[in-house]
Amino acid sequence: MAKIVGIMTTSHVPALGRAIHLNLQQDPYWKPFFDGFPPIHEWLERVKPDIVVSCYNDHGLNFFLDKQPTFAIGTAPELISTDEGWGIPSMPSFPGAEDLAWHIRDSLIRDDFDMLTCQEMLVDHAFTLPMALMWPDQKWPVKSVPVCVNTVLFPLPSARRCFKMGEAIGRAIASFPEDAKVLVVGSGGLSHQLEGERAGFINKEFDLKFMDSMVNDPQWATQFSDLDLVEKTGNEGVELLNWLVARGTVAGPVKVVHSSFHIPISNTAAATMLLEPV
Ligand code: DHB
Ligand code: FE
Repeated sequence: MAKIVGIMTTSHVPALGRAIHLNLQQDPYWKPFFDGFPPIHEWLERVKPDIVVSCYNDHGLNFFLDKQPTFAIGTAPELISTDEGWGIPSMPSFPGAEDLAWHIRDSLIRDDFDMLTCQEMLVDHAFTLPMALMWPDQKWPVKSVPVCVNTVLFPLPSARRCFKMGEAIGRAIASFPEDAKVLVVGSGGLSHQLEGERAGFINKEFDLKFMDSMVNDPQWATQFSDLDLVEKTGNEGVELLNWLVARGTVAGPVKVVHSSFHIPISNTAAATMLLEPV
């Protein structure tokens, strides 16, 4: 039986890709963020997940504004990293966990979630950076299932709906007959706004409350509408919806293996959490 062994959530600022490429992890600007990862590397070494189910938002590489699914899942055998315009070197492609992806896809559709199915998939920084942060040698020891959530074209799926989709993904993983240790990733956030009058907006108080809720009150953020979340977290801070999908996959309590929060990396309040089901 497949089993969720952990949830890893992290910000995915594209400039991290350049910092990784140039080996700037110990540079004073980058160090506070990269220091969040050695405890995660130790955990990965010990737990050795087989499959990553990554919940993230595409930023225009695989979907653009002309075709923007609310929820999509990639069943492709190979998830391809390519130039998306941020100047991040592309990474080796990622093997797809095809069998689990098809199983989750079928299960979600039967559970009333109308997924777009992608049998070919390009993955952008929101998928690739968490992977490179976890496995810096970029020799991926896992297969992956990409799950995309629209956080760019309004209206967005509600926080409530995102949490419920996470619950449905959790049920799907639990009913997958093959043995596999699954790590669920939630990529994006926390508060940031990249353009407009509030460019540079950060809300530390909300971010810290949200991080606390991931452990102690997982449905807390489901009270907010998409526009409430824009107001509280910034136009791109709404990427925290990906964290909610990831948290929803574990029905019971979780314990914190590691948590870090640092302002800013680029325009973003950068946060990382590793949670384990208890
Ligand atoms: C930044 C953050 C993001 O989440 C993103 O997708 C692009 C840019 C930033 O802070 O620069
Ligand atoms: Fe982003």
